[in-house]
Amino acid sequence: MSVESKTMSFGNASLTHVFNVAEMRLRARRHLPRMVFDFIDGGAEDERTLRANEAAFADLTFSPKVAVDVSRIRTEIELFGDRITFPLLLSPTGMPGLSHPDAELAAASAARAAGTIFTTSTVSSYPLERIARDVPGPLWFQLYAWQDKELAGRLIDKARDAGYRALLVTLDTPIVGNRERDLRNGMALPPRITWANATDMLRRGAWIAGQLRGPRAAIPNIAGLSSAAPTKGGFGPAGYLKELFNPSLAWSDFAWIKERFRGPVGAKGIMSAADALRARAAGADFVVVSNHGGRQLDNSPATLTVLPEIAAALAGSGMPILIDGGIRRGSDIVKALALGASACMVGRPWLWALAAGGRAGVQRVLAIYRAEFERSLALVGEPDVAHLGPDLLRR
Ligand code: FNR
Repeated sequence: MSVESKTMSFGNASLTHVFNVAEMRLRARRHLPRMVFDFIDGGAEDERTLRANEAAFADLTFSPKVAVDVSRIRTEIELFGDRITFPLLLSPTGMPGLSHPDAELAAASAARAAGTIFTTSTVSSYPLERIARDVPGPLWFQLYAWQDKELAGRLIDKARDAGYRALLVTLDTPIVGNRERDLRNGMALPPRITWANATDMLRRGAWIAGQLRGPRAAIPNIAGLSSAAPTKGGFGPAGYLKELFNPSLAWSDFAWIKERFRGPVGAKGIMSAADALRARAAGADFVVVSNHGGRQLDNSPATLTVLPEIAAALAGSGMPILIDGGIRRGSDIVKALALGASACMVGRPWLWALAAGGRAGVQRVLAIYRAEFERSLALVGEPDVAHLGPDLLRR
């Protein structure tokens, strides 16, 4: 088996001493201005949900089986006809251009090389069409179905025409969460420049050099649709972002979104069995169990703790169940799949990796997850991803 050798075969020399996701985060912290690092790293209010997401994985232990033949490990899964080499996809995140000038072009290309799927956010740094053109292979698109239905519809058309395979509708953002790190740091549209954040930024020479050649805070998918949107590198009126978060979005909107996209449509932000059933009734093809990485409603439970009830509610429906929030080790993927998830997604980890090393950073973080996942399967005594079940866990 090749788990050991895979662990050693990472490309970028400067990243060879990054052995896990936590170390990638520290690299990002060193490189990024505080305002940007905290925007990525932080959560809402007391960050209880942010911490709970990770803690829930730590609280769950394995009940390993020994003397099982694990000489051949099978990690491949299939989602809507696309084969994925191991069950980890990249969650949508807005404005990754603040981390690295190559933003989605780097991250999507690294995901493609690793045999998995990248999800482009509505608020991506590069236009959704450019990402699809640069990165052949399956991509998903995340929709903020904002208040102007016709504009949202035109965005769905663009994603469909660019060949995005699945659409993920984010439902946990009727309004924006209360992220106090951002308030404190002046991270807003437009940013509030203070002596503290300006001097901190000026100390990050490599980051500034990158920003000068990248898209910075541009939001091009919206720029093409809305007259209020910012131009490259600039910030337009803050109002248009507020419009993105749609307080009137309801399950009844799923029908027209599905009709317009004409492909698999998922509900992102499901946190209870009752909402999973509502998603199913509304016509969703899959769900993403997510609390937005603890960035929206603080005091939401950890995603892992609600996964079993959602898996039970959707049992027999054939609907894939994805989960994100706090997945920091390959062993966390094993735990989520054992509790009924079809696949996992990560947000912050790929942004940290992007900041730390661009495309090579994201490639490395995915290789770390994959090696850890394979090693965990071998050590837990279940060589086939399709057979993971709760018998492998002990609370
Ligand atoms: C996000 N997330 C997010 N979700 C979404 O549907 N659309 C978006 O544009 C964004 N933007 C965004 C920006 C940043 C900086 C972060 C950290 C997150 C949420 C994201 O898709 C995902 O749900 C969480 O990041 C998952 O938690 P972890 O993996 O970061 O713990």
